Amino acid sequence: MPTVTEALNTMDYGPAPESAAIALNWLTRGPFGHFINGAFTKPGAVFDTVNPATEAVLAQVTQGTEGDITAAVKAAHKAQPGWAKLPGHQRARYLYALARLLQKRERLFAVLEVLDNGKPIREARDIDVPLAVRHFYHHAGWAELLDDEFPGMAPHGVCGQIIPWNFPLLMLAWKVAPALAAGNTVVLKPAEYTPLTALLFAELCIEAGLPKGVVNIVTGDGSTGAALVAAEVDKIAFTGSTEVGRLIRQATAGTGKALTLELGGKSPFIVLAGADLDAAVEGVVDAVWFNQGEVCCAGSRILVQESVAAVFTDKLKARMARLRLGDPLDKSTDIGAVVHPVQLARIRAIMAQAVEEGAELHQPGTGEGCFCPPALLTGLGAANVAMQEEIFGPVAALMTFRTPVEAVELANNTRYGLSASIWTESITTALDIAAQVKAGVVWINGTNMFDANAPFGGMRESGFGREGAREGMLAYLRAPAIKGKARAVLSVPAGLPGEAEGGDIDRTHKLYIGGAQKRPDGGYSYSAQGGQIPLGGRKDIRNAVEAAHKAAGWGKATGHNRAQVLYFLAENMAARQADLAALSSKTEAGAAVARAFYWAAWADKYDGKVHSTQGAHLTLALKEPFGVMGLICPEEAPLLGFISTLLPAIAMGNRVVAVPSQGAPRAALEMVQVFDTSDMPGGVVNIVTGPRVDLARTLAQHDDIAVLWVFADSETCAMTEREASGNLKPVWSENRARDWAGSEGQSRDFLRRAVQVKTVWVPYGA
Ligand code: NAI
Repeated sequence: MPTVTEALNTMDYGPAPESAAIALNWLTRGPFGHFINGAFTKPGAVFDTVNPATEAVLAQVTQGTEGDITAAVKAAHKAQPGWAKLPGHQRARYLYALARLLQKRERLFAVLEVLDNGKPIREARDIDVPLAVRHFYHHAGWAELLDDEFPGMAPHGVCGQIIPWNFPLLMLAWKVAPALAAGNTVVLKPAEYTPLTALLFAELCIEAGLPKGVVNIVTGDGSTGAALVAAEVDKIAFTGSTEVGRLIRQATAGTGKALTLELGGKSPFIVLAGADLDAAVEGVVDAVWFNQGEVCCAGSRILVQESVAAVFTDKLKARMARLRLGDPLDKSTDIGAVVHPVQLARIRAIMAQAVEEGAELHQPGTGEGCFCPPALLTGLGAANVAMQEEIFGPVAALMTFRTPVEAVELANNTRYGLSASIWTESITTALDIAAQVKAGVVWINGTNMFDANAPFGGMRESGFGREGAREGMLAYLRAPAIKGKARAVLSVPAGLPGEAEGGDIDRTHKLYIGGAQKRPDGGYSYSAQGGQIPLGGRKDIRNAVEAAHKAAGWGKATGHNRAQVLYFLAENMAARQADLAALSSKTEAGAAVARAFYWAAWADKYDGKVHSTQGAHLTLALKEPFGVMGLICPEEAPLLGFISTLLPAIAMGNRVVAVPSQGAPRAALEMVQVFDTSDMPGGVVNIVTGPRVDLARTLAQHDDIAVLWVFADSETCAMTEREASGNLKPVWSENRARDWAGSEGQSRDFLRRAVQVKTVWVPYGA
């Protein structure tokens, strides 16, 4: 014990450990089986789950087999219709009960999480558990309001949910609460390193009297996860690495299973010269050092304006040296243990490679056991591994920039797009940068803020779908099924040299790329509707995508500007209605004109929201266009289908590379005259005719296409989903013919699928 004088001189913290007894006592009920159909199964082949801080074995849990997954999925299916049929109020009561029980056991959950994961108790107690509780309350509310707020929508059925080890309980809450509120039942697989709080949660389900089979929990490793993906589930929700996300995208392609992916990130943390630097230093602590950097949205790429870089770096180093690394159960610990030695080895390997590639490493000490002291890498280039790869460790990499324009360029120089943090006292600069960064969540003068009523999720290779708020609920609901017949597979049209029978294609139709009519690259054509139709290929798609990218100004135009262009287009369609009717039908042409007015009306109305979240913040949910979209238009209703799918996409600010009907493409090609006379900027609409399946494949594989809509046969739908796993673009594929003339043709889904939500947290306070 130091004397009082010594203590006052050093101003050191005394130890303040939370007792582990409560959790160790609970653990004596192990070894653990799974939680299936309302009861724990007998343990099977077990593996150890270990406290990474002490290397002590905490418990043994069962490695889930395919059989276990089958049993859990069966129980979930059996329970689902009854659960969905309960009045929303009844489901709400169960969710309230879970929230309350979780609140009652706060300490047990927090301590157990710390033992299993190694994170500091400060995080488990102050962030993870309260947010998990908040999630159950919030979603109890959605259960109550489901019929009012989501009329006509239905739950998917059984949801397979796979979660990672960084926020075990919180990720469970993010997945289970909305699924149950919407009337789904679930089979959840926690991460193999951190299964314990999920098993404790299973006890709450029993205590809350949740009907058997509504929640099922199967423990195990990646093979158990893969078995769940392959099982007879209706939806998969996954949070974890981009690599596994890609495998899941491939495995679910063509199965009809709904999918949401919340994947990795390499988020920029932008510090401008006018920022409160001390606040920004604390931001770095929260963004990347605290919790060992085990956060998918960790702001681990620090971009600092050159003029303040030296001062900021000094401040960071000074703060880093004072961070407390040690016993995760100690209330004054900042950095606990890394979840597993495998993860520690990965962190060290990336740091070593970064240094090899020229970075300078600053790190107070090397750490013992499964601990990694905080680190700062400086002097690195944009291509350095530490600037590009997700590390998931307490490692910040710092680069400088000169102007805000350069900051945005550097920020977007990544394949990810999960989050961004912007530090400046100028609201104008902050919002300007927020609008330009490619990220699902942007924090201004803050970092890592979450709320059940704030949509969270990524762009680009950080995945698709949102968790939280109304958006999150929509991910657990499906629109009414399309009633039409399944579409037939098309045969590939026979290509002829352009000059062959039917005349020179120069004298008939051409492709429409960048606002100009172009011969197809190969110079071939095929016959359809009594004309010679250009046979587009890979190179034409490439040119069209390039032209679409150049038309980026369309996405920045106001809704009013876009509406004006679309109204003008509708008017010009009306003027050419007879020509369009000759290439489709009178009714179709009439309906297409009306549809054009309809989507024009939406251009300035389908807008964002301000969410109620935490005090002194505006949490904006902006609806942004994806950017460049690939569109395989329906084969049926060649004009009305083309208009009904193309126009909502561009009304929302996307630029489109469209492949019209293969058998009856002439109405779409005739529309080129209308686009040309309607003030539509070149490159906003591009039309490539030809072999739809090949063109769909090229669009799916193209890395510069952000989203793909496919209205085609089931084989083509499956193929595009599989091929789109490269850059993980979301694919909306539909293999049944819609009733384009009826309400199915102007469903709100077209708007919803044309945008992605960017959540921007704007703080205020004088
Ligand atoms: P992971 O992606 O392998 O694991 C996440 C979950 O997926 C676990 O429950 C795991 O058992 C399961 N899983 C693994 N393979 C599967 C498969 N083929 N099919 C279905 N489920 C499968 O992540 P891991 O190996 O634990 O961590 C590796 C890296 O991934 C980390 O260093 C980090 O960079 C990143 N990561 C990102 C997370 C995020 O929140 N975005 C969370 C965890 C890790």
